[in-house]
Amino acid sequence: MKWLTTTLGSSIGKKLLMAVTGLSFIGFLAGHLAGNLTIYGGADAFNGYAEHLHALGPFLAVAEFGLLGLFVIHVLVGLVLFWQNFKARPVRYAVNRSPGGKTIGSASMPYTGILILLFILFHLSNFSRFFVDQSGTTIYQIVSQAFQSPVYVGLYVLAMLVVGLHVSHGFWSLFQTIGLNHPKYMPAITVVGLVVSVVFALGFGFLPIYIAFIA
Ligand code: HEM
Repeated sequence: MKWLTTTLGSSIGKKLLMAVTGLSFIGFLAGHLAGNLTIYGGADAFNGYAEHLHALGPFLAVAEFGLLGLFVIHVLVGLVLFWQNFKARPVRYAVNRSPGGKTIGSASMPYTGILILLFILFHLSNFSRFFVDQSGTTIYQIVSQAFQSPVYVGLYVLAMLVVGLHVSHGFWSLFQTIGLNHPKYMPAITVVGLVVSVVFALGFGFLPIYIAFIA
């Protein structure tokens, strides 16, 4: 247990935990997006994908618990880092100018993080089998029903833009933390981070619009 207190006690330890858990979420989002793209194949394709996933049984349960654990670590350590940064600067700067390449993405990380946390709670209450009785209906019907509401479509599209913004800085930041901040690699990493965040924002964000207006 000593490694845990040492890791949590040091600033770089906390940043490393953020990086490793953040990278796992990027992996999860890539998988989740790939699965959700079956929506374009119609109800049977999407329901078939969900059935395959659920057929994994205990393996799926282990992955879900693992994901939940990583999520709890990411949120708690993120909040601790935010609080420590806040405490370290009790007097706000009159001019908020940072020489360290501050971007909208980097400055808004704690806020976009909290919005994503709220989105995930809302999202699970909409679609997850842990919260929605899926007997007698299909996952396609549940999703398609939700996106008949313009409020849901609007909330999801906005949430996907927030996810894109969070990932755009998180991707860059995690490679800095794991020590790949070499002038030779960073420009490429910045571009890949931007591409990944645009793919997530557009890939997820277009789905509710497609279901509401096209499908
Ligand atoms: C339009 C965008 C999205 C759609 C249509 C969608 C759809 C779904 C559906 C249908 C489920 C339930 C799967 C099941 O119980 O069989 C689900 C679960 C989940 N989604 Fe999404 N999702 C979207 C975006 C996102 C985003 C951006 C995140 C994360 C930031 C996310 C995180 C999750 C999580 C954590 C679960 C629970 C996984 C599990 O229980 O195994 N989703 N999503």
